[in-house]
Amino acid sequence: HHPFQTNENGHLEIGGVDTITLAEKYGTPLYVYDVSMIRENARSFVNTFKELNVKAKVAYASKAFSSIAMLQVAKQEGLCLDVISEGELYTALQAGYPTERIHMHGNNKSAEEIAMAIEHDIGCIVIDNFHDIKLLDEQLNAQNKTMDVLMRVTPGVELKTHEYIMTGNEDSKFGFNLQNGQAVQAIKQLYNHKTIRLKGLHCHIGSQIFETEGFQVAVDILFNELAKWKAEYDYVPEVLNLGGGFGIRYTKADQPLGHHEYVEATVQAVQKNSEELDIPMPEIWIEPGRSIVGNAGITLYTIGAMKDIPGVREYVSVDGGMTDNIRPALYQAKYEAVIANKPLEKITREVSIAGKACESGDMLIWDLPVPDVEPGDILAVFSTGAYSYSMASHYNRFPNAAVVFIEDGIDKLVVKRETYEDVVKNDLSYE
Ligand code: LLP
Repeated sequence: HHPFQTNENGHLEIGGVDTITLAEKYGTPLYVYDVSMIRENARSFVNTFKELNVKAKVAYASKAFSSIAMLQVAKQEGLCLDVISEGELYTALQAGYPTERIHMHGNNKSAEEIAMAIEHDIGCIVIDNFHDIKLLDEQLNAQNKTMDVLMRVTPGVELKTHEYIMTGNEDSKFGFNLQNGQAVQAIKQLYNHKTIRLKGLHCHIGSQIFETEGFQVAVDILFNELAKWKAEYDYVPEVLNLGGGFGIRYTKADQPLGHHEYVEATVQAVQKNSEELDIPMPEIWIEPGRSIVGNAGITLYTIGAMKDIPGVREYVSVDGGMTDNIRPALYQAKYEAVIANKPLEKITREVSIAGKACESGDMLIWDLPVPDVEPGDILAVFSTGAYSYSMASHYNRFPNAAVVFIEDGIDKLVVKRETYEDVVKNDLSYE
């Protein structure tokens, strides 16, 4: 559900705060998060594991939305943190994240990234390929340390999601393939390693997933492999990390399951396999990103130019677009939106919301039903909390938009709007 409430002025509210007041105070485009929803989302994962009495870790996949304030909320909720780059790790350190709760991913980690992770004694590195093993071994020797790792494997599960965000199938740049013996090669190198401590396996089957079946199939495939490793190498995992990917509702076409349903199905699959194959129940780790922040965020825009092509389409342009939310342009992602200063007015027509970038594909929403809209109105797009700010660009030299957190009815600026000085700050003169 969307945080859709209106107040006595007939304005859209988020977390009890008037969105029109926010637009006036901070300008647009503006990302606004209802922090209580972020906390609720995080807790529903954590609590389900607790209720099931299963040892588990929930890591927030910070790629969905990384900023110091956000990571502080994740820290307060006791989550672990998934980072995939030096920049995400740096942000975590700046947020004061307990380093033992940080897990590092990446399909092309540099020696510097690995060195930085070891230096800060992060909790775990997820090894993606043979290059990782070599670099990690070298860096651990250089620093005279050991490191807990998970081995990321590609189980070969194909799921109903957009092909660009499908990561668990065989033809993937991520992880060691199970089918062609790569993973076996890797376990041979790792199960007895002196400095690299293989805690278990990791797999991530994709993103925006609406059924539990993919997770269950992945668990079966992983255990099938683990049974062989037990027989062959006497290897027993302590941890099984099943990644993220739990779907959220963007429009009414999306029907996600409750967080507890994903967790329960996954736990059951692990329990069943663990009993049948006589492998001790491992700790279960998950890495939700979108399902923690996606529906907690909205984006506010100011409506400007309108172009009517009678009988064809009416274009309504806003002061942002693909530079603050590339998902419609990149994945044909769909969103719902309302005119925030008149959310309850009678719908009179359908318009298409265009971004401001110099690119025909910069369309945010096609065929949005709206009341009588005019320049100066504020558009609120729902469920933009994940992969919007984090994928923002400077195309056409748009400064990145600001981020505001709302909690207990109070608004707080947590990422400043970039200025034009920020946009040119690394440019050097050539005359
Ligand atoms: N763990 C791993 C290893 C991942 O690769 C990802 C996402 C996650 C966890 C978190 O997945 P989530 O729970 O957020 O679905 N930019 C795309 C999504 C890319 C997801 C990449 N990996 C989008 O905007 O839809």
